Amino acid sequence: MRLQGAVVAITGASSGIGEATAIAFARRGARLELGARRLERLNAVAHECRQGGSPDVNVRLLDVGQPASARAFIAATLRDHERLDVLVNNAGTGWMGRMHQMPEEKISELITTNFRGVISTTQAALTWMLERRRGVIINVASVAGFRPSPYSAVYSATKHAVVGFSHALRGELSGTGIKVCVVYPGVTSGTEFFNDKGPPIGVVQYPASWVANLIVRTARFPRRDAMVAPLRLFHLAEPVLGGLGDHLIGEARRRSLSD
Ligand SMILES: NC(=O)c1ccc[n+]([C@@H]2O[C@H](COP(=O)([O-])OP(=O)(O)OC[C@H]3O[C@@H](n4cnc5c(N)ncnc54)[C@H](OP(=O)(O)O)[C@@H]3O)[C@@H](O)[C@H]2O)c1
Repeated sequence: MRLQGAVVAITGASSGIGEATAIAFARRGARLELGARRLERLNAVAHECRQGGSPDVNVRLLDVGQPASARAFIAATLRDHERLDVLVNNAGTGWMGRMHQMPEEKISELITTNFRGVISTTQAALTWMLERRRGVIINVASVAGFRPSPYSAVYSATKHAVVGFSHALRGELSGTGIKVCVVYPGVTSGTEFFNDKGPPIGVVQYPASWVANLIVRTARFPRRDAMVAPLRLFHLAEPVLGGLGDHLIGEARRRSLSD
């Protein structure tokens, strides 16, 4: 896909990976529709995107956890640009701690934001994309989408759900010209994701710009699964790691939680 002039809608563009992704698409001359709940932050990102080379940037209040808000975001994109070339479902949130202590509202927030939101925007975008027989949908999952993360059981479940949804939909859309892709970030610096507790100790971190460049590359050359090179090895080792991985990561996290 040629990105100059392409219309790219990004959810969760007010910080972290979404912000870096907006800037990376702007540098390639894409037109942008940016959504999140913090409008001031979105406006600051939009300013940077215009300076970075995007010919057209709009910001929208968006709560992906509300299906009507998610649908309105896509409808506004189509009204503004009369097309949608790339949808990046990036908005997401996490929670780390002991499962039996996880507050009910956090459980609902993770499920609606990380998974339900992806369904709502995707469904809204599909109607248009199917008519035009083109489009790329990029869903931001996580390493936790293939390597369950102890002490983040609900988060891992939502990211597994995103992966299952994406792969099944990719099959359903085969031959239509629409591609569904999954990007799997590892622990990423320059984000607000670990604001509450800080990232897990002893884990290699990658900058948000790496993930952003991976997302842009995936839009240009859509593939089923995209991850930075070191994580590909981790992905390959997963069937062997299995329960041992659960145990070792569980032990490491238990220590960092008690510190
Ligand atoms: N950072 C990591 O280490 C890491 C690792 C693996 C996967 N990921 C995934 O990467 C994605 C981006 O996270 P990040 O690391 O960039 O964290 P971040 O800096 O906290 O960004 C999260 C973004 O999602 C938006 N968001 C949250 N809830 C939303 C809602 N209900 N409606 C609309 N937007 C919402 C936030 O904007 P508002 O608060 O303004 O709404 C923000 O723009 C997430 O899907 C996350 O699961 C991150």
